[in-house]
Amino acid sequence: MADPSSFAAPDGCRTHHLYLRCRVDFASKSLRGTVALTVRAERDHLRCLVLDTKDLTILKVVVDRQEAKFALGQRHPFKGAPLEITLPFELGKGQDMIVEISFESSPKSSALQWFTPEQTSGKKHPFLFSQCQATHCRAVLPCQDTPSVKFTYYAEISVPKELVALMSANRDGDLPDPEDGTRKIYRFFQNVPIPSYLIALVVGALESRKIGPRTLVWAEKELVDKCAYEFAETEDMLKTAEDLAGPYVWGQYDLLVLPPSFPYGGMENPCLTFVTPTLLAGDRSLSNVIAHEISHSWTGNLVTNKTWEHFWLNEGHTVYLERRIGGRLFGEEFRHFQALGGWRELQNTINTLGSTNPVTKLIPDLKEVDPDVAYSSVPYEKGSALLLYLEQLLGGPDVFIGFLKAYIQQFAYKSVMTEDWKAFLYSYFKDKADILDKVDWNAWMNTTGMPPVKPTYDMTLSNACLALCQRWIKATEHDLCSFSSADIKDLSSNQLIEFLALLLLENPLSVSHVKQMQEAYNFNAVNNSEIRFRWLRLCIQAKWEDAIPLALKMATEQGRMKFTRPLFKDLYKFDKSRDQAVRAFQQHRASMHPVTAMLVAKDLGPDGQKA
Ligand code: BES
Ligand code: ZN
Repeated sequence: MADPSSFAAPDGCRTHHLYLRCRVDFASKSLRGTVALTVRAERDHLRCLVLDTKDLTILKVVVDRQEAKFALGQRHPFKGAPLEITLPFELGKGQDMIVEISFESSPKSSALQWFTPEQTSGKKHPFLFSQCQATHCRAVLPCQDTPSVKFTYYAEISVPKELVALMSANRDGDLPDPEDGTRKIYRFFQNVPIPSYLIALVVGALESRKIGPRTLVWAEKELVDKCAYEFAETEDMLKTAEDLAGPYVWGQYDLLVLPPSFPYGGMENPCLTFVTPTLLAGDRSLSNVIAHEISHSWTGNLVTNKTWEHFWLNEGHTVYLERRIGGRLFGEEFRHFQALGGWRELQNTINTLGSTNPVTKLIPDLKEVDPDVAYSSVPYEKGSALLLYLEQLLGGPDVFIGFLKAYIQQFAYKSVMTEDWKAFLYSYFKDKADILDKVDWNAWMNTTGMPPVKPTYDMTLSNACLALCQRWIKATEHDLCSFSSADIKDLSSNQLIEFLALLLLENPLSVSHVKQMQEAYNFNAVNNSEIRFRWLRLCIQAKWEDAIPLALKMATEQGRMKFTRPLFKDLYKFDKSRDQAVRAFQQHRASMHPVTAMLVAKDLGPDGQKA
């Protein structure tokens, strides 16, 4: 079984350790240095080795102190170029070699976003962050960029001395750079084997606050106190996760709040979760993202998908655990409310992608498909719905967590495929094979569209959202005056999110409906990003011109793809804002995250390509 997203051939040899030494150069927007890979042959007579690269300059390759011949193959549109290294000798099965590569990254690396001082909140210092998942580690350094290979790492990073460098690892101190008095070298070790996509680096004027016994929150100083308040539940969540999934093996669990262009809600970089500042709602209402990233410490980072086709193993189990944590901390009713919201989100996604779209399969075929293009909520929500369905079929939450714990123990430090997961499920529930045989596996795993069965959900917290949504869609022009702020005074932030999400599943409202909704609920004044995002979509879909500047502002002032892409798409669809959307994209493109810019360009069709 090969990884369609990588040129590496792990059946020939595998990386066990990576030693990175590099210099972060803000002037040339590049990382320059060496990476030394400890590579073990998996078979006899090994004569060559292929690594992944993307837009890298390769200067030199040395194998066990002997210079080696190398060549870069043809560049693939999204996979990058294979680096083919000819070994100066033959390696036998089980033997190790050290392959040291001198390299330089490109200023247009798809893994890195470089900021000038003006683009930061402090305005004084430059900033850099990486995002390697799914297949961008190869745009930072040459490696076997497939999640089927795991290695430990050590790194020494030289940066301007007024800045801080952090990685997805434990900190091992800093020292003056002996080669350059204006610089400092930060050192890191990661002693738990990780896949390449979990390598991460950030450099900036960062400060920290301690918010728990094993947690610092890092951010630019303007934001760090707000972050300390927002993420105060972290240690409770970590303890709950350990109770559900087993011991936390990574040592530190720090949080890093990135600039607004960070393309995801969160990223589970080991020892240092990266998060978007759009989680800073002020009321901790978006903390499920922290529960989610914490959960990856088991599902994803310990038990890892072998290829991106089995991404649902990472995300489906993580969403399931995230909601179990929510259930422990805020009650089972809340857990079911979130899970039903997830089912509705899946419906939403499948409506948009189309029910015969091949990426709506739980296990998609990624041959010649860019994982960033295939990315959607399907692996998250179809995956976690399957697990909830199995929980209900097999005897409830207590029984099912036993399975999940055993699965984690069985496959910790390994990479797995769906077949491994399913075989372990059958062996764990061997006395319940008759029940498992009733599951329509083919429909769940290999069929497009919605799943064959819907789990059962407690409706306590959802009912109010459904009822208010129904009132709005049934309201005629005459009924509009009956709506007032009293309608929502007892709804939580999460219920408001759900109410708006339900309306987005329906036909667009009329302009007078959304105007009246603004009159009654004043959603324009809400800063909670999840509420604001859905509200502005609703307004643009209702063709309310007054909302155009607000939607353009949100689409461009933050770059979380979950928000930015649909907002740009809606603005592009509306004839009154189409040109403005294209112009805003042209204006901002150069300062956008490279992956976000690539995907928004695709979303805007021919106009985006021209931009
Ligand atoms: N690992 C993902 C983010 C990711 C996935 C980055 C694939 C690149 C490629 C992270 O754990 C995640 O799922 N984030 C979600 C959080 C949500 C499901 C609570 C997000 O960003 O919205
Ligand atoms: Zn995730």
